[in-house]
Amino acid sequence: MLSGNTIVMMVGGSIAAYKSAELVRLLKKRDARVRVILSDAGAKFITPLTLQTLADERVRSETFSTIEEAAVGHIDLADSADAVLIAPATADIIAKAAAGIADDLATTVLLATKAPIVVAPAMNINMWENEATRENVAKLRDRGVFVLEPGDGFLACGWTGSGRLPEHDAILQALESVTAPQDYAGTRVVVTAGATREHFDPIRFVSNRSSGKMGYAIARAAACRGADVTLISGPSALTPPAGVKVAQVTTAIEMHQAVMEAVREPAGASEQQKQYVFMVAAVSDHRPAEVSTSKLKMSKDEEYSVKMVPSPDILRELGSYRESIEQDSGMPLRLVGFAAETGEHEELIHWAQEKLTKKNSDLIVGNFAHDSFEKNTNRVWLLDRTGRQEEISTADKQLVANKIVARARKL
Ligand SMILES: Cc1cc2nc3c(=O)[nH]c(=O)nc-3n(C[C@H](O)[C@H](O)[C@H](O)COP(=O)(O)O)c2cc1C
Repeated sequence: MLSGNTIVMMVGGSIAAYKSAELVRLLKKRDARVRVILSDAGAKFITPLTLQTLADERVRSETFSTIEEAAVGHIDLADSADAVLIAPATADIIAKAAAGIADDLATTVLLATKAPIVVAPAMNINMWENEATRENVAKLRDRGVFVLEPGDGFLACGWTGSGRLPEHDAILQALESVTAPQDYAGTRVVVTAGATREHFDPIRFVSNRSSGKMGYAIARAAACRGADVTLISGPSALTPPAGVKVAQVTTAIEMHQAVMEAVREPAGASEQQKQYVFMVAAVSDHRPAEVSTSKLKMSKDEEYSVKMVPSPDILRELGSYRESIEQDSGMPLRLVGFAAETGEHEELIHWAQEKLTKKNSDLIVGNFAHDSFEKNTNRVWLLDRTGRQEEISTADKQLVANKIVARARKL
């Protein structure tokens, strides 16, 4: 989502400044232009050369540079930003920003820019909890500045608690949120992700290879675009995106129940527009007819068979009860299903087409299991009810998710 955006990134005098190097790299990887401003204190912790090499662009520190200011460089920096990021943000820069002080290049640009600002604080826990910092953070938030909560854990100063630079992924998501179109504002989005597990005894289950990455990426894309997102996830080691409600489930029956509860919930004050359901999870089609409450004793000399019975078809049920769900929630419903197939392209399109009509969905995202399962990239085909097909060629799952979510908003 950050591709083509200019991020003016300010690096303050915190021990966490070393982490800014990785952030620059991650932003560049997303094809953003990164213009770094390094405070004098920041330069005591990380060299301009490191940041400059990673950003592929000169690092600025001086306010009164006769070379830069020949073209009023500080205003050019402020105007060029699609977003400003302060990472790490010191207590000092937060205080100056709150007070409107402009006594160095970073604070001057902060005052001059019209771009959205993301603040990623890093400091000693007592500095973070100090009344002065609390008031300054509250002031900035009141003005619409996106101040992230610092992370918890061991701090370089020896204390343990709140004050660590937020995780890189949370910082990137904040930047994506402030730069993304807010076309999902006022909508509710329910996303299922991952695989379900169908136990036949307390320690053994039938499942599949779905990692949940695609579903989590859809949830993140929708949240960044302003949706009120509920993520219903099978067992997964992934970290849910920020600002998303999460329901953890294990079985297809639990997932079915969680989805039905979520979609029938009456619209809240902030979500009257439309409800979207993205059924990304690889829900087990069948489950063992019986679940033993104790571990089955299995002899290596005997064969076993497990009788499987059908699990609820969540997408089909959403499609069949569309009108009553719309009545309960008070919002029009749009259904996006996912179809993972093996075989040839014609077969994939055939099954996706069938899913579209049989399950009364609005959009089907077809993909090959070998392109998708457990991978960080994906390649998909979108099929809608007008018969239109659209390919999204192989790309990072987050990029593919952004495109799917953008397309779904037109339904
Ligand atoms: C070793 C060391 C580590 C520091 N770490 C932090 C920090 O993590 N967060 C912070 O707010 N200030 C920290 N400071 C204090 C700031 O560097 C100081 O307030 C400085 O004036 C900040 O300037 P700047 O906001 O222009 O970068 C640290 C100072 C020292 C000497």
